[in-house]
Amino acid sequence: MSGIFLDTGDINEIRKYHAMGIIRGVTTNPSILVKQGVQGGMTGVKKHEIEIARLIDPLPLSVEVTTNDYEEMRRQAKEFAGWAKNINVKLTIHGPNGETDNLKLIHEMETRENVRINVTAMMSAQQCFLAAMAGATYVSIFGGRVSNMGYDARYEIRRLRQLLDAFGLKAKIIVGSTREVVNIVEWFEAGAHIVTSTPSLIEGMIVHPYTKETVQQFIRDGAQFGKL
Ligand code: E4P
Repeated sequence: MSGIFLDTGDINEIRKYHAMGIIRGVTTNPSILVKQGVQGGMTGVKKHEIEIARLIDPLPLSVEVTTNDYEEMRRQAKEFAGWAKNINVKLTIHGPNGETDNLKLIHEMETRENVRINVTAMMSAQQCFLAAMAGATYVSIFGGRVSNMGYDARYEIRRLRQLLDAFGLKAKIIVGSTREVVNIVEWFEAGAHIVTSTPSLIEGMIVHPYTKETVQQFIRDGAQFGKL
């Protein structure tokens, strides 16, 4: 499934853009859920994520683990994947101090546990390439954060797409951390399969001041015919 994934935990916004048929999935992470005000511990998270998963079924929903403790990550990954058949699990490429065991878990989940993994928090084509080699279904590169470091994210996306195609890897490229409306189309052009977007950036894609003015003119002129 390629296209825009909505990067939010806001059920009303998801319902709105899903009904328009313009999104192809939803991504969440712990920061998004906190910002959304999700309460009630893991029970609250479960309820919220299941509600989103049902709302967009069969489109995919990414749910991120909340820890980097290996056994706990493993337990959460299996549990989250069991909440709904369209849930995939986000695991970061490595731990907070560069711990590299995460790739082993990614490989195990994809090859032995039938859990689809979205490897996240990546900043380079080389990280994404290794995650794809480990068997990830999705590889998420954070375009906005890459650009904030002074590199052009489009360059990394192009290199990554070439690598995935050359090696026949199944992983789909998700470019997230989207900062500007213009990023969405330019990252697709660079080779992204999926770009994540906040609701406000999608609105920015739809609404154009000159379109507003044009529609106002049509309505004004149409009013001259009176009521039909
Ligand atoms: C994508 O999947 C991530 O949730 C998200 O885009 C991260 O973006 P940020 O850099 O705005 O936190």
